[in-house]
Amino acid sequence: MKVLVTGGLGFIGSHTVVELQQKGFEVVIIDDLSNSSKEVLNGIFAITGKMPIFEEFDLKEKSKVEAFFQSHSDICGVIHFAASKAVGESVSEPLKYYENNINTLVYVLKEMTKLETANFIFSSSCTVYGQADELPIMESAAVKLAESPYGNTKQIGEEIIKDTCKVADNLQAIALRYFNPVGAHPTANIGELPLGVPQNLVPFITQTAAGLRKELSVFGNDYPTEDGTCIRDYIHVVDLAKAHVVALERLIEEKSNDKYEVFNIGTGKGSSVLEVIKAFEDVSGEALKYKFAPRREGDVVEAFANTSKSNNVLGWKAELTLKDAMDTAWKWEKKIRNM
Ligand code: WQD
Repeated sequence: MKVLVTGGLGFIGSHTVVELQQKGFEVVIIDDLSNSSKEVLNGIFAITGKMPIFEEFDLKEKSKVEAFFQSHSDICGVIHFAASKAVGESVSEPLKYYENNINTLVYVLKEMTKLETANFIFSSSCTVYGQADELPIMESAAVKLAESPYGNTKQIGEEIIKDTCKVADNLQAIALRYFNPVGAHPTANIGELPLGVPQNLVPFITQTAAGLRKELSVFGNDYPTEDGTCIRDYIHVVDLAKAHVVALERLIEEKSNDKYEVFNIGTGKGSSVLEVIKAFEDVSGEALKYKFAPRREGDVVEAFANTSKSNNVLGWKAELTLKDAMDTAWKWEKKIRNM
């Protein structure tokens, strides 16, 4: 069974390709290499012994999307990762985000409505909840006004899919709302490759330990939490990748009751920034250089998932720990820095 993975050379995409191949799916990747590298194909091959089919193009090229679906009408599903994801950049370049994340989604969905059966998995984000009124956050929690154009593209993306499912008889879809994806493949053949200075906590930690950054700034230590730092639900990328395979199988096996479903993908456990640093220090044996800095604009105090729906309805559960994530992220960082 052939699956299209858009953005399949990115961080979450590449780990999902590995899990799909290991489950016997044939994978076709479309990626424009705007935030990834062809080298990732070798990493995937090193793990699975299978080279995915790779087509390099930008999904904004509508005619190429049409031509692709004409020559691959036998695909059993699409997992759509391709999108821009830097929150800060989305504030300064909103139109880039609306064009990259919304136009491409529309083009892919449009072609999928022409297929006999169309199964679609969408990368959504816990960012749609903003600062939720209740913790842990359930899927039924209110979607808050988006904090950034990036977050807005995830909210609008979900609406576009929901509306299309209502009218396209052949289409069914699942949106996975990821909490904070971290870690790397345990083989250290694939991992996160942030461009420039990392904006996210874990790559900043590993780059600091590797000597690329002087020290980590912990954004805020006066939050109303036990140790004063923000709390997030850090989900290992391998667990997250597996959730996509389970979700796709759910659609293929027609197990879902609704044409459009949403699931939280997290561990259900919140960890503070200081706990993440501690987990890193424990597994690496390195003391991390860090200082306390002012709060970062737009940060919510606390976010972690209620995972009952993903555990009981989707049939998926996170198995790896924060320490597993920090250990693999560190192995990966050392490998790419030749340490
Ligand atoms: C985690 C915690 C920071 C960097 C973002 C997106 C979200 C999602 C995942 C993506 C926070 C603190 C961070 C640093 C720090 N989607 N921190 N020093 O903001 O929870 O989520 O990534 O596609 O939409 O907003 O993740 O890793 O940036 O921050 O103290 O140098 O670490 O304040 O508490 P965030 P993050």
